[in-house]
Amino acid sequence: MFLIAFTRKALLMNTLDVITTFRDFYRDRGHEVVTGSSLLTELGDPVLFTTSGMHPLTPYLEGRPHPLGRRLVNVQRCLRTTDLDEVGDPWHLTVFEMLGTWSLGDYDGQRSLRWGHQLMTDVLGLDPRLLHVTVFGGDEQVPSDQVSVQTWGELGLPVELLGPDDNWWSNGPTGPCGPDTEVFCWTGVGEPVGSPGTDSRWVEIWNHVTMRYRRHEDGSLTPLPQQNVDTGMGLERLVSVLNGTSSVYELDLFEPWVGEVERLFDVDETSGRLLCDHLRSLVVVIGDGVSPSNSGRGYVLRRLVRRVLTTLWVVDPTYTLMDLSSEPIEHTVRRFGLNHDVTEIRRVLVGEEERFQRLVTRGQRLVSKELGYGPLDDDRLRDLHETHGLPRDLVLGLLSQN
Ligand code: SER
Repeated sequence: MFLIAFTRKALLMNTLDVITTFRDFYRDRGHEVVTGSSLLTELGDPVLFTTSGMHPLTPYLEGRPHPLGRRLVNVQRCLRTTDLDEVGDPWHLTVFEMLGTWSLGDYDGQRSLRWGHQLMTDVLGLDPRLLHVTVFGGDEQVPSDQVSVQTWGELGLPVELLGPDDNWWSNGPTGPCGPDTEVFCWTGVGEPVGSPGTDSRWVEIWNHVTMRYRRHEDGSLTPLPQQNVDTGMGLERLVSVLNGTSSVYELDLFEPWVGEVERLFDVDETSGRLLCDHLRSLVVVIGDGVSPSNSGRGYVLRRLVRRVLTTLWVVDPTYTLMDLSSEPIEHTVRRFGLNHDVTEIRRVLVGEEERFQRLVTRGQRLVSKELGYGPLDDDRLRDLHETHGLPRDLVLGLLSQN
């Protein structure tokens, strides 16, 4: 069983406790709670899914007055396909929840860092010796963020200066953006060593962006009408480091998924995590109203299902999503307050499996035929994917079974 190595222990704080603590902390400091929206972005938005807590707030960061005021807090479900190749490691997820705070032209970045530090250490009890921060070190357009360097220094945290690839945040090529400072927590065994830029055992948990610029098509920057602070903290990572777990998969959110995947599929640890992540993400995507298709959001859904099935079928072609029980699906539907019920979600998953199964059967014939022309090199594998929709991993899996 893939997760047998995990030490199952009672969590000191579960995800709902942490959400409540976070919201209350900021409410006590004058923030109004914004209700999180679905994963689906507004009509006309070029981005398919909500990728961060700030996404639905873009007009307000650009200056439109928000009906709830200038200090906001929320929990927003997000989906990122940019990290798909990392999923299967202990920390990256496709769908995750982001704890966010905003100062819409109200308090400054320094205030945000001091409150953030107080919340992490005094309230949530993170050991400050396990924290390290990175700060924007400047580029040809914007100088280094010395306010953050000084503030973190006064709070006693080690600082690493990094460039725009690491410490500049934007939600796309144009629009609101700014330098960010990121908080990392040590997840290695023993005393912390190195820095976030040099050791991957430093895991990012919180990002404070001083969002004060707008990027234009030509790459130039102009100041936004107001100086904002936008922060985003990954709930699952935060709760993991608070509990000292070795991955996000040990959290309450994943418990029914881990149990189900262990019960049904005999796969390795990385594949097991990927299955838990993708299946849970699929439930949220379908539950938020996406139907499978060959483009846009529906294609993301289809791709996730195919990644799940490919992962399963290279191990055992008889594995099927029809065996999934209702329990983990129901758990995720309740957690996110989704619109679709379990029956509908299972119907979509099973329908996609049948569709993919037909493609694979056709693929088996094609692969046998292709093999007649010699071994399959990279170009021919790419062609099988692009022309016939057969993923490389699946073809390699089919070859290993031949
Ligand atoms: N927008 C920043 C992020 O997504 C902080 O909210 O990380």
